[in-house]
This record gives sequence, structure tokens and C-alpha cells, in this order.
Amino acid sequence: MDDITKPRNDFIPAARFHFLTKLYDPIVAFTVKEQEFKRLLIKQADLKPQHCILDLACGTGTMTLWIWQSAKGVVVFGLDADPKILTIARRKAKLVGADTAFHHGFSTKLPYENEVFDSVFSSLFLHHLLPTDKIKTLEEVHRVLKPGGGFYVADWGKPQSPLTKISFFLVRLLDGFVNTRDNAEGTLSKLFLNAGFMDVVLIHQVTTVFGILDLYAMVKPGPNPAISSLPQSVSGVRKRR
Ligand SMILES: C[S@@+](CC[C@H](N)C(=O)[O-])C[C@H]1O[C@@H](n2cnc3c(N)ncnc32)[C@H](O)[C@@H]1O
Repeated sequence: MDDITKPRNDFIPAARFHFLTKLYDPIVAFTVKEQEFKRLLIKQADLKPQHCILDLACGTGTMTLWIWQSAKGVVVFGLDADPKILTIARRKAKLVGADTAFHHGFSTKLPYENEVFDSVFSSLFLHHLLPTDKIKTLEEVHRVLKPGGGFYVADWGKPQSPLTKISFFLVRLLDGFVNTRDNAEGTLSKLFLNAGFMDVVLIHQVTTVFGILDLYAMVKPGPNPAISSLPQSVSGVRKRR
């Protein structure tokens, strides 16, 4: 049995099994309203030329490239633990002539200096991590973000109907019940706050065939917060109206 208290140096592949990695793009495109939720997430960040952006656990690089396309002059990095999926990401970048850089690495030990990124994005990723690795990963994101930088997350939320409970059960069965516990219990936002983020906002929820995707925006405390125009929260976590 896994020791869930220790950081791992293995990872759950994008579509759970390595042999399915080639099919990851069509699976995601057809099942989870990929265009809708990824573009919504990108829109949350006020991306400016010269901004340095990390797409954490970038997979095949779809969102990395959409970030790159969304704002001229941004510098975009994608990082993933799976060298094979990075080959696909690099191929896709070459096809569109993107100067994005893809790095191999683990979210629990990011290969970057402190406070280098203006924004970090994470899509469909946190539920791949055991609880201790999730905490370590959030600490790492906090470390590499500049003060005032934004963190934008899309991941599974607490199912709210019998139907979404059943569909999300399939995700849990595949990706692991311990990894997905915070999603199922709706406690991701607490982890964000514990890691030191502020203004944690549930900006949108997208219903998919596998359950509800929660989209979050938050900032690392500091000057010029990226989402400073949001109303103040009382509890620290709130929904955007
Ligand atoms: C479901 S895919 C999501 C890919 C992409 N972000 C997207 O939205 O399509 C999850 C990705 O997390 C990567 N991954 C899993 N554990 C990791 C870790 N500890 N550090 C970095 N990447 C990891 C996997 O290799 C996989 O590419």
C-alpha cells in the first residue's frame, strides 16, 4: 500500500494509463468542455507583455498554447512530470510556431527561483496528487509566484447532484480516492488559504460528463494584486456573483 505521508517521485499519467496518453487530447476535448473552461480561466488573469507565466502540469500543452496566443509578448513555460506527454506538447508548439518552453519536473520541487512568475495556471491537475504532495505543490506555487501574482485553478468540485456524484465516482475510481478527497469534500479552497493565498474566489463552475469543474482565482499577498478589483471576502472564500 502507498505511504500517503511521503512525497512521491512518480505520477499519475494524464489519462490514468500511459497507453492512453495519445488519446488524451480527444478525450478531454469531447468530455469536459475544454475550450469553455480553459479560456474562462485564462481570461481571469490580466496578462501583459513580458509577463512570465507557468502552466503547471501542462500535459499536452493545450492551455499553455492558448495562454501564449491570448496575450502578445507573454513568456510561457509548461512543466510536467511526464517526459512523453511533453514530447506531444513540444510538437504542438512547433506546429503553431510558439516560443513556449516545456520543462520536465515535479510540482513538489519546482525547478524555478523564488518569485519569478506573474501568474501560475493549473488545470485538471491537483486531483492527481496525494494530500501531502498537494500541500507541498501549493507551497511551491506560492514560492515561485511574485508577490501580487495570481494563481488560477480548474479542478473537480464537490458533486452537487446524484448524477454528478455518479460521474465523479468514475474519476475517483480511475485517479484514486485519496487524491480526489479534497475535491469530493469541497475543501480545496481551504488548502489554498493554508498555503498563504488570499482572495480565493470560486469564479465559475462548469458541469461536465465527469462532474463539476470548479474554477478558482487567488493571489499571493503583495503589491498590485492581479485580481484586486474583486470585492472583499469575509471568510476568505466566496463565489463570484
Ligand atoms: C489530467 S492531466 C492535465 C493536463 C493539462 N493541465 C490539461 O488541463 O489538459 C494531469 C497532468 O499532471 C501531470 N502530473 C501528475 N503528477 C505530477 C507532478 N507531481 N508534477 C508535475 N506534473 C504532474 C501528468 O503527467 C499529467 O500530464
